[in-house]
Amino acid sequence: ILLLGDIMKNLLVYILIFIFILGSLLIINIKKNTKTTNEFQINEYYKHQNNTRYINYRNKNPNLSIKDIIIRVNLNLDKNDYENTELTKYENKIYILANKHIFLRNDYIPNNLEKLDTSYSRDGMMLVHNAKVKLEEMINDAKKDNINIRVISSYRSYYYQMKLYNNYVISDGKKNADTYSARAGFSEHQTGLTIDVDDGITYYNDFERTDSYKWMIKNSYKYGFILRYPKNKESITRYTYESWHYRYVGIDIAKYIKKHNITFDEYYAMFIDN
Ligand code: DAL
Ligand code: ZN
Repeated sequence: ILLLGDIMKNLLVYILIFIFILGSLLIINIKKNTKTTNEFQINEYYKHQNNTRYINYRNKNPNLSIKDIIIRVNLNLDKNDYENTELTKYENKIYILANKHIFLRNDYIPNNLEKLDTSYSRDGMMLVHNAKVKLEEMINDAKKDNINIRVISSYRSYYYQMKLYNNYVISDGKKNADTYSARAGFSEHQTGLTIDVDDGITYYNDFERTDSYKWMIKNSYKYGFILRYPKNKESITRYTYESWHYRYVGIDIAKYIKKHNITFDEYYAMFIDN
């Protein structure tokens, strides 16, 4: 009985030590999380419902700033592509965003679509009126600098995009196609605010090597157009770099994006959907 009493006593001590260690660990963890939470909470883009996701995303991406973590999670970039998708709330707005998490109705056709003139575009191209006006201004000013800019793709309907994407899947496989072609409903070409351009002679994939490209990079923002899928921003745009793909967002937004070297997705998270 004496021996049994000793064993019980030792066991009790061990249990108490175990409880003490567990309790300490718990307190340390709570303190750590509270600190992280506070760091996030004071940021102007913080959304309470995303709190746990910020913490998890930071654990996976320790080198990102608090601001970048919040913006990326708010853009659902902690989810897989085409996961957590939502319908756009901004039909016919200049700042409408379509990406791998925000889509357009299959019957969405923007208002005020107008045909582009074949003097500077392929046949059958269309854009929203305001974008067309600024595009023509830009192309005319480029011409004064001896620069040729031609539109090779613009508004695309949901069903046209579906055909395009499906053809890429057949020829190149789904995994590859997803890196450069949007699934139907997720293409910003459906907004009527987007153009693909070339210089009239060079294959569009080599647009980066042309003087027209240099001119566009330097000047397009003055007319409200931005390079939508820049180099080294793939983790945000979720598309490989496209030197030929420009988006009309209006002069004010274009200026901000150019000045701060951010993507339209980030601008949207910061100023539109906040
Ligand atoms: N190439 C762009 C991402 C599109 O398909 O809309
Ligand atoms: Zn494009």
